[in-house]
Amino acid sequence: MTKKTKKTKRTLQKSSIRAAITGVYGYVPPDVLTNAALAQMVDTSDEWIVERTGIKERHILKGKGLGTSHMGAEAVRGLLKKTGTAPGEVDLLICATTTPDFVFPSTANLICDMSGIRGVGSFDVQAACSGFIYALTIAAQFIETGKYRKIVVVGADKMSAIIDYTDRATCVLFGDGAGAVLIEPNRKYGMIDTLIASDGAGMPHLHQKAGGSRMPPTAETVAKRLHYVHQEGAAVYKFAISRMAEVATELMRRNRLTRETVDWLVPHQANKRIIEATAQRAKIPAERVMVTIQKYGNTTTATIPLCLWDYEHKLKAGDRLLLAAFGGGFTWGGVYLTWAYDSR
Ligand code: ACO
Repeated sequence: MTKKTKKTKRTLQKSSIRAAITGVYGYVPPDVLTNAALAQMVDTSDEWIVERTGIKERHILKGKGLGTSHMGAEAVRGLLKKTGTAPGEVDLLICATTTPDFVFPSTANLICDMSGIRGVGSFDVQAACSGFIYALTIAAQFIETGKYRKIVVVGADKMSAIIDYTDRATCVLFGDGAGAVLIEPNRKYGMIDTLIASDGAGMPHLHQKAGGSRMPPTAETVAKRLHYVHQEGAAVYKFAISRMAEVATELMRRNRLTRETVDWLVPHQANKRIIEATAQRAKIPAERVMVTIQKYGNTTTATIPLCLWDYEHKLKAGDRLLLAAFGGGFTWGGVYLTWAYDSR
């Protein structure tokens, strides 16, 4: 094979099939936890939470025996119905989550069972708040190679299961929810570029101390409240601002995008100030930035699909979207894609 042929082949392979989002569905549980209710539980106020985070309320999953899979399955069943997809047509399901129902089996396995999807591959992706971006990136590879034609990617988290509601610095931030997207091959629209990265040295700033193999659960770990999110807010904040902006500007640089050509920035929703700083550094005006944090809080892996779900009615085929996230690990990443359909 000559050099020229090789180059042509590579270009063709890269551009001939794209992995496109062809449907989105979200689920948040009915119970709402307002700032006013939190102010009855810890020393905080609606004013402080809104000013420092932008959050007004978040949804909390209640009900005995209900875990992350419950919300993920709600989102997946809604997605299949909305897109007219039979469970038997799905080739693969990937679930990004930081709060799996169990250490094993995977939450993806459970969601498949609860959605009637049988006999296909399913697995969880753990990359904290960047999990949905990681899962999209993995899904894209299976579609672009022609291996699979219909992949469901879910982001679902029951953060209330690992939040200490006596710690005012973390309990105001998080909520529960799930979002799911269908990914299919498309010759015109879809994911054009992806970026994933991590730095495990960030662990001390954001992690759950006990419950894993390093410190299995004991009466002592429970008594010491070590099964909750431990977060050093200021350190995470600093990291988040720089990495989110870096992801957005790097994807813009690599794809020759400008503030005029990005139709929507879809940022992970951790803090309104982080979202605003990212948009400012990427020079994307506020009216083209998806923001749902005021009503859902930080739902970890679900923030980005919930944004897409909420804003779907405004999206048109060909819109250029820039997705960016960061999270515990530390992890960060982004996707540049063109939206595949007009809202229906
Ligand atoms: N209500 C009232 N006061 C509070 C609250 C609260 N809920 N929380 C903290 N404070 C107090 C602090 O105790 C501190 O008081 P002090 O000065 O007397 O010590 C003061 O407010 C300022 O604290 P800071 O931590 O400096 O407040 P900041 O403005 O940085 O906001 C916050 C804190 C919201 C946590 C911010 O640091 C943040 O958003 N960090 C990033 C969080 C994040 O993005 N997490 C990602 C999670 S992603 C994942 O993978 C799970």
